Amino acid sequence: MIRIENLYKAFEGKPVLQGLSLEIADGETVAVLGKSGSGKTVLLKHIVGLLKPDRGTVWVDRYEVPRLKRRALYELRRRFGFVFQAAALFDSLTVYENLALPLRDRGVPEPEIRRRVQEALRRVGLEGSENLYPSEISGGMQKRVGVARALVTEPRYLFYDEPTTGLDPVTADRINDLMIRLKQELGITAVLVTHDMRSALRVADRLVLLSQGRIRVSVPVTEVFSTPDPELQDFLESIRPKTE
Ligand SMILES: Nc1ncnc2c1ncn2[C@@H]1O[C@H](COP(=O)(O)OP(=O)(O)OP(=O)(O)O)[C@@H](O)[C@H]1O
Ligand SMILES: [Mg+2]
Repeated sequence: MIRIENLYKAFEGKPVLQGLSLEIADGETVAVLGKSGSGKTVLLKHIVGLLKPDRGTVWVDRYEVPRLKRRALYELRRRFGFVFQAAALFDSLTVYENLALPLRDRGVPEPEIRRRVQEALRRVGLEGSENLYPSEISGGMQKRVGVARALVTEPRYLFYDEPTTGLDPVTADRINDLMIRLKQELGITAVLVTHDMRSALRVADRLVLLSQGRIRVSVPVTEVFSTPDPELQDFLESIRPKTE
């Protein structure tokens, strides 16, 4: 469970989060929408304790994140997997070594590393690509390796920050299918930050709209089209068939 309570954060006097509250239940996938610069990434960073709030707090399971000491915070972060906008793989390392890295950091023994890497690659449909370098695979495959790398540590929470941005629709849909499958197979709790409305509607259970530092709208995806919020409807415009 993740619970964000009345979060405030400003940078150099410029308010970004202004009393944001949000609860994410176990097993739920929440899509976070919001204009560029509205504070989506800042919100994610507060959840994992990379930023400290000016006011308000964040709970992850039974831990109050802003109160955790360095060591405890480090432990807590192990519950999270991140998939970044850019795949952020090391070009000089093979797929296997890229995936092994977070496990080596944790002192996982090599046979267990091998097992987990193979399992994660199988989950994203890339078994057999252990010895390839990032430059030898497509952008879409790199994204899937990015997802696999988030999975090797067997996280309870998975954060996707713009995972389909910059991909063609077919490749984006492969990533969408993958996110759906992980939700079904692993029951993972996920936060999906995206500008891709199609992706949000396919993958998420609930959609929240961040605006002026708060959660302006929070609705199950099934009710998105019947919610008469102008700002939410603006986001939906992008996927409406053009009538002319
Ligand atoms: N460490 C920081 N120091 C100063 N300002 C910051 C910092 N991090 C974020 N900001 C500012 O906070 C605001 C929100 O940034 P954030 O990255 O959360 O936006 P976003 O909603 O993720 O946007 P995008 O969709 O473009 O990724 C921006 O104005 C940004 O410049
Ligand atoms: Mg962002």
